[in-house]
Amino acid sequence: MQHYSLTAPAKINLHLEIIGDRADGYHELVMILQGIGLEDRIDLYAGSTQAIHLHCEHPDVPLGPDNIAYKAAQLMCREYSQAYAQYGGLEITIDKKIPVAAGLAGGSTDAAAVLVGINLLWKLGLTQPELQTLASQLGSDIPFCLEGGTALALGRGEELSPLQGLDQATVILAKHRNLFVSTAWAYQSYRQRFGESYYQKPETIEVGKKQAHSADLVSAISQQDYLKIGQLLYNDLEKVVFPEYPKVEALKSAFQEEKEVLGAMMSGSGPTVFALCSATAKAQDIIENVRSKINDSTVEFWTTELTNRGIQVKS
Ligand code: C5P
Repeated sequence: MQHYSLTAPAKINLHLEIIGDRADGYHELVMILQGIGLEDRIDLYAGSTQAIHLHCEHPDVPLGPDNIAYKAAQLMCREYSQAYAQYGGLEITIDKKIPVAAGLAGGSTDAAAVLVGINLLWKLGLTQPELQTLASQLGSDIPFCLEGGTALALGRGEELSPLQGLDQATVILAKHRNLFVSTAWAYQSYRQRFGESYYQKPETIEVGKKQAHSADLVSAISQQDYLKIGQLLYNDLEKVVFPEYPKVEALKSAFQEEKEVLGAMMSGSGPTVFALCSATAKAQDIIENVRSKINDSTVEFWTTELTNRGIQVKS
């Protein structure tokens, strides 16, 4: 039976700046997105019945239309109904390694892998720009997940410009096990609290000006200056997540006190905090220090690295 196995990396936000409201109800963003080595594995088979079946052993992963990877499969079945009829249904298995609802685009990267996998399984021959168009219909982070690497992301997050790749740093991730932050809640709270000060009418937002906000970080990336990159990390959503969840801020502060940490920041809408460290840093020592400072057994840690890999087809 025809089968594809793919790997789908998580991402972190090195920069997340909210610069205005959009006419479509979303927020106008300036982000710098970065792929990391922590990845899920997605297996796709043509099914025997005319249906989509999603399998995942992780208890927090929905197996129906609440899962963005399932929605990606539905979209492909709608758009390419002839191929769907010809090849039968889809059996999709997700081996979940990326923390769920954590600000690491775990669901988005699975969805990107489903688009790539179905394109191969059904021999559709879609080009990368065609896959990008499908991805941006599904969610704001999915176009980046298709490409991976390091990129400036404007608009809702789907207007991508690749930046020079970064791969010489270790990343430590930390997250409270039972803490989940809804992305929609975080953006909505930001609008409620800061709408007056950040608000720009969609038609007044200029592309050149948008890029200026993150110019220092873009230039640190092009110089591969990891020290500076660590100092320039930025995330507007911390302003709403930290007051609601002070323990996330405490986790960030604990990392920042560590000598070998170049910079620490909440990723996306949280609650995961990441610490950027030099490639030679002793990650385990940093984790032990942070663990003893915060003294909270519900915090989980992962050590990974920055990566330029996007979705990869393994077999
Ligand atoms: O696009 P996606 O489904 O990943 O976004 C999740 C939620 O985050 C949206 O429903 C919206 O509330 C918020 N969002 C936003 N502006 C963006 C991206 C996301 O308000 N640019």
